[in-house]
Amino acid sequence: MVDGAPAAESQDALLEAFAERLGAAREERLAQGVLALVGRLHDLIRDLRPTPDEFSAVLGFLTDVGHNTDARRQEWVLLADVLGVSTLVEDLSQSARGRATPSTIAGPFYRPDAPDLPDGADLCRDGRGQPLDIAGQISDLSGAPIPQAVVEIWHANAQGCYENQQPDLQPEFNLRGRFRADASGRFSCRTIRPGGYMLPKDGPVGILFQRLGLGLERPAHIHFRVAAPGFRTLVTHVFDRDDPAIGRDALFAVKPELLGEFRPVSDHPERFALAVRFFLAPETHP
Ligand code: DHB
Ligand code: FE
Repeated sequence: MVDGAPAAESQDALLEAFAERLGAAREERLAQGVLALVGRLHDLIRDLRPTPDEFSAVLGFLTDVGHNTDARRQEWVLLADVLGVSTLVEDLSQSARGRATPSTIAGPFYRPDAPDLPDGADLCRDGRGQPLDIAGQISDLSGAPIPQAVVEIWHANAQGCYENQQPDLQPEFNLRGRFRADASGRFSCRTIRPGGYMLPKDGPVGILFQRLGLGLERPAHIHFRVAAPGFRTLVTHVFDRDDPAIGRDALFAVKPELLGEFRPVSDHPERFALAVRFFLAPETHP
C-alpha cells in the first residue's frame, strides 16, 4: 500500500460502512441528509484534527446550547441564525422570486395570537417612544392591489425589547397587531419607532461570538407577515435604513428591498412616518 493511504482508506471505509447500514432506512430523504452530514463531519474532522479535549469542548458547547433552550428562549434557533444558516435556507427556498418582496426569518418573538385591530389603530400600549405612522400597500407581482390581505405586525420597543421578552415591564401585546387591508390593498397603523436589538450575550452563542470578536447587533426593524388566499404568505422585515448598524446585522437579513425610510413628519420633529409596499408571489410560484 502507498504511504498515507491506509488512514484515508480506513476513513472512507468508515463512511462506506455507515452508508451500508443506512441502506435499509425507510425514509430516503432523511437517510440522504444524515449520510451527507456524516460525510461532511468526517471531512471536517480530517481537516481540523481536533484533540480529544477540543472535541469535548465542542460537545460541551452543544450541551450548553440545549440547556439554554426552553419555551421562552431558543438558543438553537439563535445558533442557526447567527451562523447565517437560517437566512441561507430562506434564500434558497425562494430563488426564483422575481419582483416578490424577499422573505426573511420570522425570528423567535412572533406570536400568532396578536389582536385584530381596526385600520389606523395604535400598537403602542404603554405610550412610550417616538410616534411612528405606518402606511402600507399590498400588491401582486403585476402591481395590482390585493384586497383584504391579512397583515400582522410586531416589533421591539425603543430599547430593542419585545413584549414577550419583558412580560413584567411591557403590557401584553404591546407593539403587535393584526390588520386587514382594504379594497385597494392598503392598511395603516400608528406605533412607535423601534430601537436596535442586541442578541443575548449571556448564553453559549453570545459567549462564543464575543470570543470571536463578532458583533451581535440587529439594526432597528419591524416584522410583517402578510397572508392572502392564492398567494404565498410573506414573512419579512423592514429595516431602519438610517440605523448605524444597518451594514452589520448579526443575522444577515438586510436586503436592499427591505430598507425603509423613517421620515420625520414636517412640523413634528418627534414624529416619523414609514411607507411600505409588499409584492406577494402567487401560491404556484416556483
Ligand atoms: C432574532 C430575530 C429577531 O427578529 C430579533 O429581533 C432578534 C433575534 C433571532 O432570530 O434570533
Ligand atoms: Fe426582530
